[in-house]
Amino acid sequence: MSFDLTGKRALVTGASRGIGRAVAVAYARAGADVAVLARNADLLEDVAGEIRALGRRAVVAQADVLEAETTRAAVTSAIAELGGLDVLVNNAGGNSFSIPVAQMRVSGWEKTMRLNLDSILHITQEALPALAEDKDGAIINVSSVAGLRGAPTMAHYGAAKAALLSLTQSLAIETAWMGIRVNALVPGWIDTDLTDFLRASEEAEKGTLSRVPMQRWGTAEEIAEPAVFLASSAAAFMTGQVLVVDGGLSAMP
Ligand SMILES: NC(=O)c1ccc[n+]([C@@H]2O[C@H](COP(=O)([O-])OP(=O)(O)OC[C@H]3O[C@@H](n4cnc5c(N)ncnc54)[C@H](OP(=O)(O)O)[C@@H]3O)[C@@H](O)[C@H]2O)c1
Repeated sequence: MSFDLTGKRALVTGASRGIGRAVAVAYARAGADVAVLARNADLLEDVAGEIRALGRRAVVAQADVLEAETTRAAVTSAIAELGGLDVLVNNAGGNSFSIPVAQMRVSGWEKTMRLNLDSILHITQEALPALAEDKDGAIINVSSVAGLRGAPTMAHYGAAKAALLSLTQSLAIETAWMGIRVNALVPGWIDTDLTDFLRASEEAEKGTLSRVPMQRWGTAEEIAEPAVFLASSAAAFMTGQVLVVDGGLSAMP
């Protein structure tokens, strides 16, 4: 058993920046060919170049995951170009606003659900037949500590990420017989574009890190390595589980 991914074919969503990009590059470094999906074509070409420089094949799949049909088509053609699929990382997601539930607009709630939850249904449904082919598939759903407990002013995001944890467990049970493992990876506060607003002022940053026992931001690479583990044979008997990587945040009372 090892963290080696030689010969694996992976699709990583939200791979143009941040955590997804780090996962895509770490997978290539571990020996996988990687398809990268997101909206920004230039950034996708950039990460594809990095993957090719590591000696692996890269496939660029441009899609906005809010658009179900184009996303499904992009997933299908990326899998065809890769020649099959062994690992799917559902990472594209995020949150662009904070507001109490009482003031939440239904449109904002729905968009957050479509980005962080509905998109995963579309992508996963397209990928399942290919993942089942060799009876050795893996799905990694990137959730959030916001989905583990209350997330005041981010209830929309927390609810979507909590639902993703439930989806992970249901899907793990439904697909175990197909040889597919499904696990969730739960990052704490990671230094990416998504959390830039929390570094905008010293006060906001101090408030955020005061709840983190390790007293620092995590890096995208520190999420990528556990994502390699979950995709690899080192996690061969692990499915329906939640791997939290948060500097101790969720251990706090
Ligand atoms: N950073 C954290 O502290 C943290 C903590 C917990 C969980 N997470 C989760 O980790 C995942 C990655 O977050 P991150 O911090 O790496 O965020 P990020 O730096 O903002 O990157 C988000 C990625 O998702 C893609 N994306 C966003 N909207 C998309 C859309 N509509 N269609 C297709 N792709 C889309 C972006 O690419 P384009 O803009 O090119 O489309 C980008 O590649 C998210 O699911 C997030 O919720 C992050």
